Amino acid sequence: MAHFLVTGGCGFIGSHLADRLIGDGHRVTILDDMSTGRLENKPLPARLVVGDVADPDAVRQAMQGVDGVFHLAAVASVQRSRELWAETHRTNLSGTVTVFEAARSARNGGPVPVVYASSAAVYGDNPATPLREDAATRPLSAYGVDKLGCELHADVAWAIHGVPTTGFRFFNVYGPRQDPASPYSGVISIFARRVAQGEDVTIFGDGQQVRDFVFVGDVVRFLVKAMERRPQGAEVFNLCTGRPTSLLMLLEVLEELCASRVRRLHQPARAGDIRVSIGDPARLRATFGEACRFGLLQGLSATLTGE
Ligand code: NAD
Ligand code: UD1
Repeated sequence: MAHFLVTGGCGFIGSHLADRLIGDGHRVTILDDMSTGRLENKPLPARLVVGDVADPDAVRQAMQGVDGVFHLAAVASVQRSRELWAETHRTNLSGTVTVFEAARSARNGGPVPVVYASSAAVYGDNPATPLREDAATRPLSAYGVDKLGCELHADVAWAIHGVPTTGFRFFNVYGPRQDPASPYSGVISIFARRVAQGEDVTIFGDGQQVRDFVFVGDVVRFLVKAMERRPQGAEVFNLCTGRPTSLLMLLEVLEELCASRVRRLHQPARAGDIRVSIGDPARLRATFGEACRFGLLQGLSATLTGE
């Protein structure tokens, strides 16, 4: 049995991870400021420290004596990073540096490994799809710039401070517990709820934008595998399926599953929105010996039933 800190553990992805770790018999401490996280997401046995991931005292306290850290706390909405630039920067970049710094001396004065969430947003509109990890990074949003900054600081964490890390460039993650009520939430959670209830959907742009949608169960599996593999250095992997889905295709599949038809209301594309985002999972597969298991139909059905 090990003891892990999960930052952002009351959020969408973090709470699924915390469930899995507890199920595997580990101890879990969660650090979350509850800005988008929810108390009902917290697994009962997990210890919750309510605090800010950019506050060094709170992070040091939550990290004391753990065997490893999963760092997921962030403002996950690209749109939010446009509206609250400096505030999201503080959480998304300073928060990560604060976590890496505390990890230098978290257990018996020595370093502990950190597995953290980067994002496909680091690639921006690079047209070389499917994107390999060595493709050029040219983020379009403050969110993407900060995630790239996290990866650069991970290099420093290892080279200067001996903190080993594994970063995952999550593509578009979806599944149960992603908040359908927030306009800042992922598009699948918003569309799934609206189609199920027969309500109009808003499409920013023409709906031909393409994403690589990854089910949360697959994400959790790779996060755990990365920690089990014991991070060395500062590696970064795509976490993706390699399969493209446009928003219009997504809507058609949801309509089929819900036996419902909804109106599409178009609004101008959001500034800094990526047109095509598809990852190449070859390196993920080669390193971890497996690929994502959930297809879109299976993942969407699980999302609609909340299981
Ligand atoms: P989420 O909003 O559900 O979870 C983020 C959690 O972090 C929430 O519980 C929130 O309360 C907490 N948090 C936010 N600011 C904090 C702060 N200052 N201090 C402490 N806690 C704070 O989002 P999610 O989709 O679960 O995202 C988890 C991670 O994955 C984030 O780092 C996000 O950037 C990254 N990511 C998500 C996706 C996706 O498609 N959902 C894709 C790429 C990367
Ligand atoms: C998402 C994640 C981000 C992650 C990135 C990686 C969320 C909230 N954002 O950003 O954390 O780093 O993937 O690829 O999980 N759209 C509509 N109508 C809506 C909502 C969205 O048309 O009601 C469009 C958006 O303009 C965009 C697409 O759907 O073109 C996807 O949007 P969104 O789910 O917010 O994700 P990303 O911006 O790709």
